[in-house]
Amino acid sequence: MSTFGVVGEDRQDLNRKENRRIRQRSVTLLWDVVRPYRTRFLATVVLVVVSTALQVVGPTLIARGFDTGLPAAVEDNNFLPILLIVAGFVLSGLGAAAFLALYTRWSITISQDVLGELRRRIFAHTQRLSLEFHERYTSGRIIARQTSDIDTLGELLSGGLSSLVSGVLYLLFTAIALVAIDPVSGIPLALAMIPVAGVTWWFSSASRREFRASRLYSTRLIIQFVESMTGIRAVKSFRREPVDRDAYADKVEDYRYATKRTIEVYGIYDPALKVIGSLTVATVLLLGAFRVVDGGMAVGALLAAVLYTRRFFGPIENLAMFYNSFQSASAALEKISGFLEEQPSVVEQRDPEPFVSTRGDLSLDSVAFAYNPESLVLPTFSLAIPGGETVALVGATGAGKSTLAKIIARFYDPTDGVVTLDGRDLRTISDIDLRNAITLVTQEAYLFSGSVADNIRMGKPDATDDDVIAAARAVGAHEFITALPDGYDTDVNKRGNRLSAGQRQLVSFCRAFIANPRVLILDEATASLDIPSERLIQRGLNTLLAGRTAIIIAHRLSTVAIADRVLVMDGGRIIEDGPTAELLKGTGRFATLHRAWRDSLA
Ligand SMILES: Nc1ncnc2c1ncn2[C@@H]1O[C@H](COP(=O)(O)OP(=O)(O)O)[C@@H](O)[C@H]1O
Ligand SMILES: [Mg+2]
Repeated sequence: MSTFGVVGEDRQDLNRKENRRIRQRSVTLLWDVVRPYRTRFLATVVLVVVSTALQVVGPTLIARGFDTGLPAAVEDNNFLPILLIVAGFVLSGLGAAAFLALYTRWSITISQDVLGELRRRIFAHTQRLSLEFHERYTSGRIIARQTSDIDTLGELLSGGLSSLVSGVLYLLFTAIALVAIDPVSGIPLALAMIPVAGVTWWFSSASRREFRASRLYSTRLIIQFVESMTGIRAVKSFRREPVDRDAYADKVEDYRYATKRTIEVYGIYDPALKVIGSLTVATVLLLGAFRVVDGGMAVGALLAAVLYTRRFFGPIENLAMFYNSFQSASAALEKISGFLEEQPSVVEQRDPEPFVSTRGDLSLDSVAFAYNPESLVLPTFSLAIPGGETVALVGATGAGKSTLAKIIARFYDPTDGVVTLDGRDLRTISDIDLRNAITLVTQEAYLFSGSVADNIRMGKPDATDDDVIAAARAVGAHEFITALPDGYDTDVNKRGNRLSAGQRQLVSFCRAFIANPRVLILDEATASLDIPSERLIQRGLNTLLAGRTAIIIAHRLSTVAIADRVLVMDGGRIIEDGPTAELLKGTGRFATLHRAWRDSLA
């Protein structure tokens, strides 16, 4: 029993520490993005104070008008005091409006600048994070950070914050003005604060709960939507539309219900405040009326007291509302700052020595790898691939081939051991030099918006048109490209110009060819090609691979023919390694696989 108690307390302590750390992290981020605008921010606060003070001055002027201006006009036929007071009233009204307009503008400008900065940071950070992060964190969640979290923060920054400040000031100034005019009227107002505090407490906890739920459901809605759309091909081929539609409809329903509840909470709070407000005004009026009859209070002062009391209740509701928006904005900020805190798992060394690969000698020394501590995917092994060698990597699905490829291309660092290129530890090579030296082409063959030529040129931004065409000829893509509606200038995303999966792979081969890396890794890069295209590529491959270190992962064993050496992987281990011809003659795994494959062709 007691041990559990201690554990529980420890955990609470940890939680508290963690919460404090999260809050600090959020505040640091906010300060960091607001700091460039601090002068303007301060000026905005000053404007809010002045504007609010001017708004509050009205009833006091009215009281003056009734109690001194009016008697002067009626009794002495002196209109100057009332005219001065009316002028003051008009000026304060105009001033309040002008400052309001100004601070609204300024706060919107500042908040949009701040939001823009956050958006840019999130994007840049998304790019900076390693592949490991992207394989773990769904794109739906990143999109939620960029959209709904930023929007929530935007709501607070562009309207809520100044309303919050002006609301608090308004209450404060109104209370001061009321007490200054007539302290006795302050008593019913002070008493009214007891039920107001009660309902406000109820409201803030109830609406916080509903608000949280509604934010949560809106994020889930986005994630569900993004996932269904990203996987739309799988959805369609497996007729998952009804399932997905129902799942989405459920999320919509959750969101609708939570939002309805949020609004219902207002529906109770608002009328409750109105009732308390009316009763308080009535009390102030009644008390004042007796005192006016007694001669203890001027009519103007009573009028002002009633007006102040009435106005006092206006901002309370706003404050409670903005308290909520403040809550959800800080939750959003917590998530954004948490995202920005994620560290890339593969980091570039500071001031790395420049590197150009000359030989292309790859070496993996006592390398082991695990995606997570629980399961070792590649147990410790060593492997050397001399420059210029073409290696075929074969093995069943899940054997660890892609993992090995990602380690050699440094999308991941090995958990243990060292990977070197020409004797240099990959971790000491700058990102740009590394990308110039090693290219990994995967089955994905992603094309970006733009023309076919643009997509090829991505491998070498300064390539001329002739270079692009030469590359396409080399890998055997020239014929299909010239047959496209606009040839090399064909927009790959325009409707009707969509390239087939095989054509996209050919384009990504061109990209790799023009990049001219010392080390080229093809991970099932010919998987989407039909047999004729693959034949075509076979010729292209010879050109593509000539003079480079190459690792080809392919399940069609035909590709293996051009390899000097074969590595067979199984369960994360290299179980066979030798010259292609030798392995073929033997009785090992590869020979058996190859024979079976040959028989299947016959
Ligand atoms: N991002 C990842 N996170 C965790 N485990 C992974 C990840 N990618 C692959 N694995 C696991 O590593 C093993 C090897 O996968 P992989 O290298 O993709 O195999 P292959 O390319 O040979 O089919 C598999 O058991 C797979 O489940
Ligand atoms: Mg694979």
